[in-house]
Amino acid sequence: MASPADGEVAIVGSGLIGRNWAMLFASGGFKVKLYDIEQEQITNALENIRKEMKLLEQSGSLKGSLSAEEQLSLISGCANIQEAVEGALHIQECVPENLQLKKKIFAQLDHIVDDTVVLASSTSCLMPSKLFAGLAHMRQCLVAHPVNPPYHIPLVELVPHLETAPATVDRTHALMRKIGQCPVRVLKEVDGFVLNRLQYPVISEAWRLVEEGVVSPCDLDLVMSEGLGMRYAFIGPLETMHLNAEGMLNYCDRYSEGMKCVLKTFGPIPDFSGATVEKVNQAMCMKVPDDAEHLAARRQWRDKCLMRLAALKRQMQPQ
Ligand code: NAI
Repeated sequence: MASPADGEVAIVGSGLIGRNWAMLFASGGFKVKLYDIEQEQITNALENIRKEMKLLEQSGSLKGSLSAEEQLSLISGCANIQEAVEGALHIQECVPENLQLKKKIFAQLDHIVDDTVVLASSTSCLMPSKLFAGLAHMRQCLVAHPVNPPYHIPLVELVPHLETAPATVDRTHALMRKIGQCPVRVLKEVDGFVLNRLQYPVISEAWRLVEEGVVSPCDLDLVMSEGLGMRYAFIGPLETMHLNAEGMLNYCDRYSEGMKCVLKTFGPIPDFSGATVEKVNQAMCMKVPDDAEHLAARRQWRDKCLMRLAALKRQMQPQ
């Protein structure tokens, strides 16, 4: 639980990701100020957070040890950026994915903040060296990339740039642990960070397999949800190798030649257009029609599954 010495948190941008961060920090007992350029967005965000927290409380899935009302009382909206960041020890930027916009925000923050605050961006794919170039407080800047929906998926990728002070990463790592998230240190910046560098090849090969008529779109998804995904919720690809033979060395002895043979047959980057996009879209829309109502219902179901999975993972912690 946060103590007053842990300071407050400011969230810049109160959209989907900003709201999730606000809820996560409040669940850890932090006072949160939520800033947005649009007053209406702030009002909507606060209403949406209230509704979400009440629902989570009713279903027994609210995070942290405080009640929904106690957590809600920690979150306030603020339409003035200077006031929003006053007293904050951590600022989490969550504005749209646009390099120029984010650079403008960080330049603005750079003028306001002192040497004690951490400036973190939620960017999914902008490189920290580009985002923070030229700032006076560069050493206090890093990317803290969450995974959607952050309230239900704990991973946060911490990505420093060359100038980021090790203490900035350490402090953010500790903060993320404190609010129940699972931070990982990306040791040097790379396009796509780590999560998307794993995700994009999966999407890419899924697309090629459907394009080449090897498997239907729905069966392709089953290979993940009923196959690989079953264990990936508990162990990663490297531990999978270790367990799928008599340890890693034995796995490499047995399977490396076979893996390399298959890997050599992978095709070029797909276009994600033309007949294949129609085929995949048709299959997905049969399953989940792409109107707002059906998509929202399916997301709700996904989040429910993730909450149950989180409970199971807590229960299954190795001793
Ligand atoms: P969003 O569009 O839902 O929210 C953006 C918010 O920023 C809006 O409320 C908007 O009014 C506000 N905003 C725009 N200009 C502003 C300014 N100058 N000052 C203050 N607020 C401003 O976007 P979303 O999805 O929340 O994404 C935010 C960031 O998080 C992006 O960088 C995105 O790449 C990243 N991210 C998004 C994920 C997702 O699945 N949506 C997952 C992980 C990271």
